Parts: sequence; C-alpha cells; structure tokens
Amino acid sequence: MTRLPPARVVRAATTLRTALQSLTQRMAPPEVCLLELASGFMATQAVYAAARLGIADVLANGPLAAHDVAAEVGSDPDPTYRLLRACAGFGIFREDPQGRFGLTPVAERLRSGTSDSMLPVVLMLGDSAYQGPWGQLAHSVETGMPSAEKVLGMPMWDYVDEHPGFAATFNDAMTRLSALDWPTVEVAYDFTRYSTIVDIGGGHGQLLALILGAAPSAKGVLQEREALVGDAEKHLRAAGVLARCRIEAGSFFENAPSDGDLYVLRRVLHDFDDGQATTILANVRRHMPSGATLLLMESVVPPGNTPHFAKSLDLDMMIFVGGRERTEREFATLLDRAGFRMTRVVPTISTISLIEAISTGGRL
Ligand SMILES: C[S@@+](CC[C@H](N)C(=O)[O-])C[C@H]1O[C@@H](n2cnc3c(N)ncnc32)[C@H](O)[C@@H]1O
Repeated sequence: MTRLPPARVVRAATTLRTALQSLTQRMAPPEVCLLELASGFMATQAVYAAARLGIADVLANGPLAAHDVAAEVGSDPDPTYRLLRACAGFGIFREDPQGRFGLTPVAERLRSGTSDSMLPVVLMLGDSAYQGPWGQLAHSVETGMPSAEKVLGMPMWDYVDEHPGFAATFNDAMTRLSALDWPTVEVAYDFTRYSTIVDIGGGHGQLLALILGAAPSAKGVLQEREALVGDAEKHLRAAGVLARCRIEAGSFFENAPSDGDLYVLRRVLHDFDDGQATTILANVRRHMPSGATLLLMESVVPPGNTPHFAKSLDLDMMIFVGGRERTEREFATLLDRAGFRMTRVVPTISTISLIEAISTGGRL
C-alpha cells in the first residue's frame, strides 16, 4: 500500500495553496490576472511539445545544453533552446549556470516508462483532438451540444474508434489517471468485504487489477466495449490477475454482469446527461443480485466558490460527450430515480469521492 501523508496535512496544504492562489491574484492588477488566465494554453502547449519530443527522457542521465538536446531528439537547436527556456519559466526543466538544462521534480514526471509518469496524460491533453473542442467551448455553451462533434466531425467515442493513434493516447491516459488516485481510494474503502467485484466501463482494467490486488480473495468482472476487450485482457494478464477475471464485451445501456456483490462505476456517469445516466444505473440495478452494493467513483462538485477540479472537468464533459459533474444532492436524486438509495459518500484526499448505494428493491 502506498504511504500517504495524513488527510489533515493534505487538507491543510490544499487550503494554504488555495489561499496563496487567491492572494497571488489579488496582488496583481486585474488585467494582468486576466492575461495570465487567458494565456494558460501557452503553458499547455509548451509542456505538450516537450512531451512529444521526448526531452525529459533525453535529460534523464543529467543536464545537457540545448544543442545536445536538439541533436538527441532531432530538432532545430535555436527553437529547442527557446522551448527549454520557456518550460524552465513554468518550473519544468532548470537551466544551470553553464547553460545546460536539467530535470526538475515536475519534469521527472514527463519521462516515459516510469511508474509515476504523467506523460500519457500530457500527450492526451495537448493533442489537437483534445485542444480543438476546448477551443469551441462557447459553441457548447450556446447550443448545449458537445463541441467535439462539431470539431471532430463525429461523436467522441466514434472518433476514438476510428483513430487508433488517438485511441491509444486516450486509453493510456485513462489508465494512468485510474492509477493516480488509487492510493487515496485504497485507504478510504475496504474492498475485501466483497467476493465478486464488477467494474462497469472499466477501460483497460487498470482499476480492477488494483482492486483485486487489495482484495486478494475476490474475483473480478470487467464490462467494456468490444473495441477495448483485447487491450483489457493484455493489461489484466500483465497485472497477474487475469486468472481471477472475466471480461464481458457489451454495452452498459443493455447488459450488465449478474453475479457481482460490488458494482463499481468509475468516472462513467459523468460522461452522460441525467437521462442516460439513469438508464445505465437502472440497467445495472436490473442485472445485479439483490443485496449487492453499487459504488460510484466520481468527483463531487462542492458548493459555492470553492475551487475544485470537478468544476473544470464538468466543462470537459460538456465539450466532449454532453456529460456533467454532479453535486452530492444531484447524485442522490439520480440514484433515487434509478431505484437506489445513497448510503454514504466517502471523500478521499484526491478529487474523487466514493458514493455508495444499495437497491431499494422496488419496481421501476
Ligand atoms: C471515462 S472512461 C472511464 C474508464 C474507467 N472506468 C476509468 O475510470 O479509467 C469511460 C469508459 O466507458 C466505456 N464505455 C463507453 N460507452 C460504453 C458502453 N455503452 N458500454 C460499456 N462501456 C462503455 C469507454 O470505453 C471507457 O472505457
């Protein structure tokens, strides 16, 4: 189990960071503040360019001058220097007195193939298929329709299926993100109480593998779209849990495995509007044995002006799939409509919460 700092220390640090951010804003003239906010995409694209060029891997053995970095990655020396200098200004890479660039702790996470690498996530966020729809956020706000459909020319999931390169980028990022908040989930919830754990829309099976690691006596069932089944099998085998798993290809709108005592849906419902989310939940409820537990892993939008990643992620859902992030009360209403009763919400020290529910047993 990963060692985490105590929850009260993390909460105090978060409160302090929020206060410092607010202070930083108030110390700058409003026009400077706005300029900084509106030019945030420059940092996104600088980090993305460094990620695509594989610069962090080249610097893994120690600092190098820009022209040596350029020779290693096959880029032009002067623009490479300017990119490194800009990244150093954002705290990624550090220039030493000899003019050589080295890794900062943040840049370490840009390396490939390390257990804590954020490279897949950076490559997804900076991709033109990701940035393009964000550039048309206003279209989503005006029409209520995902701007991704306008920009990509088709719904998001069709785009993923038809573009294997982007699909690999997207699914690798999802796999990394599943692992990122796992240590905070693992300490917040006891999975050993269950014998058959079903992960609905479980992607590559990253989360299921982690859960089965924490619940060594449990079996796992992964439900996913046909297109992901091959990769999921590979991941579950590599994680050493395939023998305890079954993979069911199918749609969570129509089918669900019927032998679980825990049904996990991690960041699935946020892809959908309330009508579709209710259909998925009602379908899961129809297939699950009575007495089984439902566990949603989602961000819960806090009230008021409290800064929270869920508020940005909510826009992401609006743009790409027409989904939304929800408040605790909205989750309770959704669950009630689908025939569940919310039993508790377990916060974690990351941005994800665990929303537990049981079937009310009534007919829908
Ligand atoms: C946002 S991802 C979440 C993946 C995973 N639960 C995680 O937390 O990393 C949503 C997942 O739902 C899957 N999905 C989308 N539509 C589906 C459907 N109709 N039936 C089953 N899975 C579906 C996608 O392939 C994708 O893996």
